[in-house]
Amino acid sequence: MTIRLGDIAPDFTAETTAGTLRFHEWKDGGWAVLFSHPADFTPVCTTELGRTASLKSEFDRRGVKAIAVSVDPIDSHNGWTGDIAEIGGTDVNFPIIADPDRTVANLYDMIHPGEGDTSTVRSVFIIDPANKVRLSLTYPKSVGRNFDEILRVIDALQLTDLVPVSTPADWQPGDRVIVSPALSTADAVARFGDVTEVKPYLRWTPQPVA
Ligand code: BEZ
Repeated sequence: MTIRLGDIAPDFTAETTAGTLRFHEWKDGGWAVLFSHPADFTPVCTTELGRTASLKSEFDRRGVKAIAVSVDPIDSHNGWTGDIAEIGGTDVNFPIIADPDRTVANLYDMIHPGEGDTSTVRSVFIIDPANKVRLSLTYPKSVGRNFDEILRVIDALQLTDLVPVSTPADWQPGDRVIVSPALSTADAVARFGDVTEVKPYLRWTPQPVA
């Protein structure tokens, strides 16, 4: 199933390292990052899940829950968590879904047959409080993800949901932002005060407080 931005993230019930859960119920009206990895006990995946565990306070601060998935069974996940904790420097503090029957992988189109085998590639879905998919990323098995980028996108989404602005290339929190085309320059000045018009369609303003 192809998932497009704006689609409702498919719901599912799954066995995880934190017990059986129903995805939408577990999200509980918050943000979620659902991400797949190819296989347990593999080097890149171990660094990725360790990094996710180490970022718990950053996810919490943004009201985001992380949840991982692979097609490995629960016994394998449970056996692997010690290694993840060792590499990440902290206990695994998010659920890892066991998806041996590929229910979640198929719902989210995480298996790409051209990528070598029947395991999941490195998919990432950022899902908002209304259960809408707001970002999807797909990385090959050989390339570990940049979790700072995932946090950066969450920051940008949370800002632009609240204020009529967009974020430019390479934006980092605190950088100037772009006034939404939906706002006239006069309205933008009334709302933000400091607006610099470089082109009629490109107007900068310091990052507003959301
Ligand atoms: C890894 O996590 O290192 C990995 C897993 C599957 C294929 C390639 C690399």
